[in-house]
Amino acid sequence: MEIIHDVKTLRWYIKQIKLKERTIGFVPTMGALHDGHLRLVQKSILQNDITVSSIFVNPSQFNNRNDFKNYPRETESDISKLEMINCGAVFVPSSDDMYGEQDALNFDFGYLEEIMEGKFRPGHFKGVGLIVAKLFNLVKPDRAYFGKKDLQQIAVIRKLTAELLFDVEIVPVNTVREKDGLAMSSRNKLLSKEDRVHAGALYMALNKAREKLIGGENVNSVKKYVTSLFNADSKIKLEYFEVVQTSNLRNILNIDKNMDVSLCIAGYLGNVRLIDNISLN
Ligand code: PAF
Repeated sequence: MEIIHDVKTLRWYIKQIKLKERTIGFVPTMGALHDGHLRLVQKSILQNDITVSSIFVNPSQFNNRNDFKNYPRETESDISKLEMINCGAVFVPSSDDMYGEQDALNFDFGYLEEIMEGKFRPGHFKGVGLIVAKLFNLVKPDRAYFGKKDLQQIAVIRKLTAELLFDVEIVPVNTVREKDGLAMSSRNKLLSKEDRVHAGALYMALNKAREKLIGGENVNSVKKYVTSLFNADSKIKLEYFEVVQTSNLRNILNIDKNMDVSLCIAGYLGNVRLIDNISLN
């Protein structure tokens, strides 16, 4: 596996691949890799000639300094994991490589950054958009792979891709879960042993909500039900539970059987913020 630390070398490497007319699959990450990430890489390896991954904890997408500081960093073991599954190359840049003195670009994703993650993490998607645009420009992938756990991120990246005319197919990949249903996430590593026991509750709540909606209960009453699960005694402090149309993330009040609907949830367990979603259909 090629381990590339700077933009100049990455540009040269990508140019060689393009000259040979090989397809590139790209898996951008912030490291602390888990099986969910590895699934993205494996899918890319199946669908492309060369798979490039990146590891970069992107400062511009953190709206909280401590969150950025505490984000798990395990670059050495991440590189070994990628090597073991035969990833073609990994790009591990520094902040100076990715950002100049002050970036003038400011993306505005409109509605997509006013709801759910955007509402609770102001500026987050501007930062995601900025780094993904830079990485797409460098890697020039034919396909890029993103986990469905970050459903809203996929919607933002699809918009970015459409508006900037990137010639890349965005490939969403199913969420990988722990035995108790907890969606795999790098942040899970920050959970204390005691808190970890409670973390499956978010997925459980999503499933109970799905059962109720399928049984014909209306959206508002299901929302009240989910809120009641995370009352003052609960270890998890609920931030939001939303029922949205998957294609545009608009809130739904009445469910139409032909609609593609997603149930999205976020909450804090101790200091760790967890998010998840499932599809109703
Ligand atoms: O999903 C992530 O890990 C990050 O948001 C991404 C897409 C790598 C951009 O920093």
